[in-house]
This record gives sequence, structure tokens and C-alpha cells, in this order.
Amino acid sequence: MSSPESPQPHSPAAGTDSVVCVEGVDLKLAHPYDAPGDWIGQSEILKQLLACWITVDANDLPLTPRLLGSPGVGKTQLAIAAAKQQGVPLYIYQCTADTRPEDLLITPVLSRGGEISYHASPLVSAMIRGGVCVLDEGNRMNEKSWASLAPLFDSRRYVESIVAGITIPASPNFRAAVTMNQDESTFEIPDYILSRLQPTLQVGFPNKQDEMAILQYHLPFAEPEMLALTVDFLQHSHKLKLDFSPRDGLNLLRFAIKRMAQDPDHPVARDVAWQEALEKCLGEDAVDLERLAERRSRTLGGDAVPLGLADLFFDPDDPLHPDREEEDEDDEF
Ligand SMILES: Nc1ncnc2c1ncn2[C@@H]1O[C@H](COP(=O)(O)OP(=O)(O)OP(=O)(O)O)[C@@H](O)[C@H]1O
Ligand SMILES: [Mg+2]
Repeated sequence: MSSPESPQPHSPAAGTDSVVCVEGVDLKLAHPYDAPGDWIGQSEILKQLLACWITVDANDLPLTPRLLGSPGVGKTQLAIAAAKQQGVPLYIYQCTADTRPEDLLITPVLSRGGEISYHASPLVSAMIRGGVCVLDEGNRMNEKSWASLAPLFDSRRYVESIVAGITIPASPNFRAAVTMNQDESTFEIPDYILSRLQPTLQVGFPNKQDEMAILQYHLPFAEPEMLALTVDFLQHSHKLKLDFSPRDGLNLLRFAIKRMAQDPDHPVARDVAWQEALEKCLGEDAVDLERLAERRSRTLGGDAVPLGLADLFFDPDDPLHPDREEEDEDDEF
């Protein structure tokens, strides 16, 4: 393994500052996102996403799909990879709970000379440039902000900026996709918006082979044994319907590798570093997946399972419970 390296500064995305004039107002465009982004495995969902962006006739319109899935499953990566395949500039807008309509469109900025200049958001920059915009984590955004995009995502294909007092039409080449998380900390998006964000593409966890390829792609310097431990762990958690994702696997591997590389004179043993990383990155619960899955299913409506007479007298974990099943001996662990 190579020795630890000092952190490298992240080079800014390529793309020159550019200003375009719309209805007499100069707009400074945002930089496109320029970083490698390949999609590994699950080729069908990538094809479905690319199909949304095809137009088959001069009167046809592209679709703006919703990419749904658990955190860290690869939704943003999928959208980035699809945009890269199109070979057009990619813009990513990170939606948050306090995104205002003008943040999504055009922001006035006071320059040094006291003049106001207008900065186009990544979304508006993609509309003007004819690129792809990924509205990332769209369900974190409130209804008012979504309402300002209603005309963009139907046949009108424009937005109206109140701040700049202009209407901005989208280039015919403009495409978009929205990623959404399936957790509780989000807004309810109104139906008239959801009906414009179609179809719904569900991103699922990768199979064993793909998961190994994903980890290898991002961490080509990881030892095969460390990769195998991590893939087994992730596949086991997918089987138990737990939410540990490729991102969790990448984080835990990164930490374990750094711990092993930290002191070349006294290297931390591989298994010890991996176990430590598991606990520190994913929490103590991750050490016993079966137990975690059992607890999770009980809180998520496991109560619906009919109770037997013994349940009135024994805790489900009680070894004396007559119906208690012995823990599954999984030979992978
Ligand atoms: N199929 C894949 N090919 C390549 N990399 C992947 C793939 N799936 C996941 N990854 C990697 O896993 C990590 C998490 O992916 P990503 O950020 O796209 O997840 P997400 O679903 O958008 O998560 P969140 O809901 O938290 O935004 C990233 O480092 C991404 O590059
Ligand atoms: Mg994401």
C-alpha cells in the first residue's frame, strides 16, 4: 500500500465565466460541474433515464424523471453519469429547505461599483446553455420554490424571474432530472408538481458483483481482502433490508485504509482496522446486523405480527421465550 499522501486541493470545475443577455438583462452564468462520473452496473436504470431525455419528433418533449432511493445508493451518481453520456454541460443544484424561488432562478449581486449584476443559478445556466440540470435532493425544497418551476416542466418550458423582470425560455436541448431521498426529513411535494416529474425511477442496491466493482472503481488502491469484507457486509445488510449503502462502504473502507497506513512501523492489523472503521463510521449497531434488522422490523410495524400468549409474559429477546428463534448462523460472518 502506498504511504499516506497530503490532501490535494480540489481544482475548480472547468468553464469560463460567461455572460449572456436575455431580454436586455445581462446574466452571469454558473460553472458547469466537471468531474468524472461513471455509472457501474445496473445498466437498465441508466437506459431508462437516458430514454426520458430522447425526443422522437420535433413536437415531442423530453421528460424530467424522479430518481428515488435510499441515501447513498447512487442517485446523484446515476444522474451525473447520464449527463456525461449525453456529452452536454452538467449543472447540479443542491436543493435545501430554505431554497427560495429566486435562488433557483436569478440572484441579484451588488458589485463593487454599486451596480447590480444578475447571476443565473445552475438551473437557469443549464436552460440557457442547453445542458442537463440535476435538481439534487428535490424533496428538501418547499412548495413555493417548486411552484416557480411549474411552467419549466410542462410544455411551456420557461421560467419567470421576478427579481430580474424577465422570462427565460429553455433551450430545446435542456434536460433535467430530480433526485429524491426516501427519508422523513423532507417536504411533501404537491401533486401538480409530482405529475410533471415523471416517470419515477427507483434506484436499488447493487448486486454483489456490481458492488465490488463500485468500491474498486472509487478505491483502486484498496486491498482485495478489505474490499471483500466490505462487500460481504453490504450484501448482508441489503439482504436484511437495512439501509447501509455503497457510500457507507466507501467511507468505512477509506477510514480503515487510512488507519492501516498511518504508522508504517506499527501497522494496525487489517481485521482490527476494518472492525474499528465499521463501528466508527456506521455505529455500534452495525456490528450485529441480524439484531439491528430485528429491532428495525419491530419498530417499523413489526407490531402488526400477531402476538402469542407467550408474548404477554416474555420479552421477544428473552432466551426463555418459547417461540424465540435461534439466531441464523450466517457462514459469511
Ligand atoms: N453504480 C455506481 N457507480 C459508481 N459509483 C457509485 C454507484 N453507486 C453508488 N456510487 C458511489 O456511491 C456514493 C454515493 O452515491 P450518491 O452520492 O450518488 O448517492 P445518493 O443516492 O445520491 O445519496 P443521497 O441520497 O445521500 O444524496 C458516491 O461516491 C457514488 O460515486
Ligand atoms: Mg445525492
